Amino acid sequence: MRVPMIAGNWKMNTTVSEAIELVNEMRQGLDQIDNVDRVICPPFISLATVRELIKGSSIKLGAQNIYFEEKGAYTGEISPLMLADLCEFVIIGHSERRLYFNETGEITNKKIRAALQVKLKPILCVGEKLEENEAGRTEKIVTGQLRASLAGLGYPNGLIIAYEPIWAIGTGKAATGEQANETIGLIRRNVAKLCSEKVAQDMRILYGGSVTDANATEFMKQPEIDGALVGGASLKANQFLSIVRQTSEIRGRSSRGV
Ligand code: PGA
Repeated sequence: MRVPMIAGNWKMNTTVSEAIELVNEMRQGLDQIDNVDRVICPPFISLATVRELIKGSSIKLGAQNIYFEEKGAYTGEISPLMLADLCEFVIIGHSERRLYFNETGEITNKKIRAALQVKLKPILCVGEKLEENEAGRTEKIVTGQLRASLAGLGYPNGLIIAYEPIWAIGTGKAATGEQANETIGLIRRNVAKLCSEKVAQDMRILYGGSVTDANATEFMKQPEIDGALVGGASLKANQFLSIVRQTSEIRGRSSRGV
């Protein structure tokens, strides 16, 4: 049984002191919930501080990006080794990086390899644009992204995928549970082809895009959806807590066969 996961992508929000405040607001509540991996991904500059704050708690830590070289003259970049020291997860290939920083499938593939080499667990993001969705090209786009990002990876131990339709990110216009479930099913079938059936069955695949405490249940009830990558709502302690709590209630129930 795949353990559900809720990951908060704070994006380029929070100063270090705001990050401390936010963690302090959610730490106790998050610690009282079972059955869910709860991950927060603050900006790089807050990782070390947040790591200290969550020591001994059930909260796990992730970064939002990575560079694929080990070290050297790459001004402004953060290496896999630096991150492996601080956190367990790293978001790779988010659509905002593809869109504003020209990240290609080839770069994403290199970043995933680099992360896996130091035992960081990548959260690979894939998803289609609005016009691609409207033109019925979702399957083609997502399949292409997966092929490029997963090329030659074999058994990518610990890799997580987030299906994030670009039209749903930050727009308040989430996909429906059925839509997300269908595309995530498709992603799982592709992972089976590109890696193996076992990798596909073990892999956690999340939905992301305008997930809030008002719609979380709809996604968590779907059989293919193993959790969520949450942006805006992860910056509000109460909302994030509620999403994690709802996930725990629904998944806890299904794991007890109720
Ligand atoms: P959102 O962002 O929840 O604010 O739509 C999700 C994401 O980009 O990961």
